[in-house]
Amino acid sequence: MRYITTPIYYVNDVPHLGHAYTTIIADTLARFYRLSGHKTLFLTGTDEHGQKIEQAAKNKNHSPKEYADKISLEFKKLWDEFEISYDIYARTTDERHIKFVQQVFLTMWEKGDIYKGEYEGYYCVSCESFFTQTQLTNGCGCPDCGKETRLLKEESYFFKLSKYEKDILKWYESDPIMPKNKKTELINFIENGLKDLSITRTSFEWGIKIPQNLNDDKHIIYVWLDALFIYISSLELDKKSENLGFLPAFVHLVGKDILRFHAIYFPAFLMSANLPLPKYIAAHGWWTKDGEKMSKSKGNALHPKIIADAYGLEAFRYFLLREVSFGNDGDFNEAMLINRINADLSNEFGNLLNRIVGMSLKYSNGEILHNEVSHFYEAELNEANLHLQNALEFIENFQFNRYLEELFKALSVANLSISKYEPWNLIKNNGASKANALVSLCANILAKVSILLHPTLPKNTQKVAKALNFEITPQIYQKLILQNSLLDFKASACEALFPKVEKAFLSEEKKEEKIQIPKIKIDDFAKIELKVALVKECERIEGSEKLLKFILELENGETRQVLSGIAKFYKPEELIGKQVCLISNLKKAKIFGYESDGMILSAKSGDKLVLISPRELVESGSLIG
Ligand code: MSP
Repeated sequence: MRYITTPIYYVNDVPHLGHAYTTIIADTLARFYRLSGHKTLFLTGTDEHGQKIEQAAKNKNHSPKEYADKISLEFKKLWDEFEISYDIYARTTDERHIKFVQQVFLTMWEKGDIYKGEYEGYYCVSCESFFTQTQLTNGCGCPDCGKETRLLKEESYFFKLSKYEKDILKWYESDPIMPKNKKTELINFIENGLKDLSITRTSFEWGIKIPQNLNDDKHIIYVWLDALFIYISSLELDKKSENLGFLPAFVHLVGKDILRFHAIYFPAFLMSANLPLPKYIAAHGWWTKDGEKMSKSKGNALHPKIIADAYGLEAFRYFLLREVSFGNDGDFNEAMLINRINADLSNEFGNLLNRIVGMSLKYSNGEILHNEVSHFYEAELNEANLHLQNALEFIENFQFNRYLEELFKALSVANLSISKYEPWNLIKNNGASKANALVSLCANILAKVSILLHPTLPKNTQKVAKALNFEITPQIYQKLILQNSLLDFKASACEALFPKVEKAFLSEEKKEEKIQIPKIKIDDFAKIELKVALVKECERIEGSEKLLKFILELENGETRQVLSGIAKFYKPEELIGKQVCLISNLKKAKIFGYESDGMILSAKSGDKLVLISPRELVESGSLIG
């Protein structure tokens, strides 16, 4: 059983990239847990009480509840548009939650963990957090967000946090904090001494009142005590439904700014309320824009929908998980996103599917049989399997960038095998069975990668499954990933996955900016075949001002038809007998109704295109490189 949660989001702010990041990570994990056969429950929702929300509502002339309803719906709508696979959308204004929190407060009170006193200290409304004078920065600033704090002197109920110091440290021994290196900070914080925590407020109204039996109804329960228990109240404990079995929670995903609340206060609250502690608290870093944390108040927040609409939801999901290592901060950069789409998703992933479908339709009518793969390609198969096993380990340890990196290494094994063994030559030279086995090797690698990539790219991996005729299910996961089996496939034509992005879409000044071309490895270059070709025939194409149609001669008298957009700069007759340079392994394309089998290279000189040819005559078909 795996119960996974995102934080519940404050409704004073519409969703931004930071919120989408946590939610997309949680969604990916939930999908992975389901696929790998775990009963899974996934909670997200909104945090709707507290002074911050009361103020935000007032500024907009709304009642707090009206305002909370409006913003909570915005979050929900976004997650629905993003097809986030949550099971529970929880809100702290739910009657059931309110009752639950009051009940928990009473349990803690009856246990002797709560007492009444007076609070004097500094409060940050933005973080909904208390500080002592020595903790403040620049006189009165909040040490977490830098905003001005307020000196509060209020009658307050306190929770005996100090009582739980040792138990929390003991719990840390089971390594519940991810990434593991975040534990040291927390231990230092605890070892400096935990102060009892003020858990009620009297200076505002928008929140849960303490239980009636205490006869003290000016007190509102501290918003963090209220919010953290949403993870439990939403399981309908009172109804003893089957959700109860989901405790202890498997993982609470949080941002690093709220790790302390989850990893220090929450376990203490749980212990006090006699509830089980979660297995993991996993904390990610922040997305920054030009080095600053993104937030609405700073005015630098990026709306996740704008990015997803521009580049596609799945490319966006991939980028968020791939680009930063979990726990570290990352700066959002549009050019990097485009590079990821072009270099990884289009080149390595989408293109592999094209190649497999193309070859199998050509060589074997789409039938892809696995019986000879291990015989011819055992080493490649083992190498790919190793990457898949690593990927599995990384995702189980919340190392999402490395999980994806390993999957793309497995795809590289397939792509490089195609360039290395050249199935098109094997077919010609009596190597049909080796060529077919190669197609099967690649199809099996692509299928296995697609299964493990499915939690990140749900739709595109389904397209792969459809094109190769298999299904992505927990059963197939068992078979292909855990038992390392191979499958037969039947390929059929399909649309290209992740077309290349040529221009940046988001910011005006970037519109005209050329995409930065990524550095490639020599292996990437090896995928391109360049040859010298002799122009045998050349003519204009009727109706097109740009295109010339060439018949080119390569080695052994082989000829090809290639179209090139240079008609404005050359007369056809002057090119006949000249040599040109050709990308000879480009996928065939139809241009203006004519087939074009390759691409003639030319250099851009101002507005002109200048053909590139060897300085001296060489044999037709000579390789360039
Ligand atoms: N309501 C509390 C959570 C209560 S959970 C019982 C809260 N809400 S929040 O809306 O302010 O933030 C929710 C999550 O969004 C946090 O995990 C936070 O780290 C994350 N992010 C907010 N801004 C972020 C970035 N700029 N980058 C990455 N994530 C950040 O805290």
